[in-house]
Amino acid sequence: MFKLSRGHSQTADVSSKHGESCEPAAHRPISQKLYSRVATPTNPADKTPQMEAEQQNQTTPSSTPNSRKDDRDDRDDRDDRSTNGTSLQVKIFHEIGKPIQSSLHKISVVGTGAVGMACAFSVLTKNLTGELALTDVQGDRVRGEMMDLQHGAAFIKSAKIISGVDPKITANSRVIIITAGVRQKEGENRLSLLQRNLDILKSLVPKLVSLSPDAVLIVVSNPVDILTYLTWKLSGLPKNKVIGSGTNLDTSRFRFLISQKLNVGVESCHGWIIGEHGDTSVPVWSGVNIAGVPLRELYPALGTDNDPDNWQEIHKTVVNSAYEVIKLKGYTSWAIGLSVSDMVETILRNTHKVHAVSTNVQGVHGINDQVYLSVPCVLGENGVTHIVKQKLTDTELAKLHKSASIMKENIDNLKI
Ligand SMILES: NC(=O)c1ccc[n+]([C@@H]2O[C@H](COP(=O)([O-])OP(=O)(O)OC[C@H]3O[C@@H](n4cnc5c(N)ncnc54)[C@H](O)[C@@H]3O)[C@@H](O)[C@H]2O)c1
Repeated sequence: MFKLSRGHSQTADVSSKHGESCEPAAHRPISQKLYSRVATPTNPADKTPQMEAEQQNQTTPSSTPNSRKDDRDDRDDRDDRSTNGTSLQVKIFHEIGKPIQSSLHKISVVGTGAVGMACAFSVLTKNLTGELALTDVQGDRVRGEMMDLQHGAAFIKSAKIISGVDPKITANSRVIIITAGVRQKEGENRLSLLQRNLDILKSLVPKLVSLSPDAVLIVVSNPVDILTYLTWKLSGLPKNKVIGSGTNLDTSRFRFLISQKLNVGVESCHGWIIGEHGDTSVPVWSGVNIAGVPLRELYPALGTDNDPDNWQEIHKTVVNSAYEVIKLKGYTSWAIGLSVSDMVETILRNTHKVHAVSTNVQGVHGINDQVYLSVPCVLGENGVTHIVKQKLTDTELAKLHKSASIMKENIDNLKI
């Protein structure tokens, strides 16, 4: 069997299998079709016989009209290679302009566990981006997740999906979703995760911001209100650019449960959960309405302790929802993924929709401390642009202040 040269034995094997001549001259057309020369090999052992012949003899095929065309093609291939093209790309396309490799609406997900991947899947199926970057300290896991999503590319509006352990993969993001960190175990409350997740944020946030200085950061890791505050501090960004997913999810749970009780569509049930995403969240019963009709005007006991219809149980169910789901399936994922992708949609499409998200509430509702809590916020490309001045009852206000003081206490006790 004739060996072309080191590194080309596979081609020679194929030729001889088909009973073709092993002479270098007979092999020439195949090698011309198979290889596009990118650069003259520096190692003589890597040269094909054709290359050697061309170099030694100026009257070899390279001087014929056809081979001049081939040379031109070769040159084009080389040019194209320099911009990551392949020979087939050169054959099928006329390049008019250089493609931009990165999307202007790049989204990154940091931490690709159950929550990170639910967020990733949800932003992809909503067609919110042309580029999704995934990063996690578990290299195999993040690569596996990337591949699994890429294999579904034919069924969604195509997005470039990239991954890596190094956060540099997130460079030039418009939105960064932070879900890295430990999650609650059965029965564990969110505040107990604080110190562990803070240590993770300290290693991540400055790097993420230096790579994507224009990004809006959405913090999802728990306890989300305190971690959002700390992310804001670590980031050096203006407060509007750092948002916690907050009670966007609790509000959805609240509306869902009301819709079940009234047998009306969830989108038509308006109500808000504000304050901490956690045990001290505040249901704004005074504002619950259907088509602008406040339920409390029709039923003053709504959400009070003296309510014979027990509407206040709905808020208890909201607070216990995560504990219940974690007990049943080990973690929560789909609803938080949908909640975050809804926020991302508002930000990237700049629709100015109002979401209950965690933001810096110093000076809002008489809160003096520098803490992050959820209140209804207008979101857009610039992050939080406005906070809605919600009318709260004295009871609701007192509960919100209690939420704020618990946040402050936890921040003060932290080893930063
Ligand atoms: N805000 C909310 O409404 C809400 C809802 C659900 C869960 N959460 C929180 O989200 C977080 C993630 O939950 P989960 O169920 O996905 O947990 P998970 O354990 O499935 O995933 C966490 C991921 O973070 C990764 N990670 C850890 N350190 C990292 C680092 N330095 N850089 C990059 N990645 C890192 C881990 O490798 C893991 O893949 C938890 O803190 C959880 O409590 C928040």
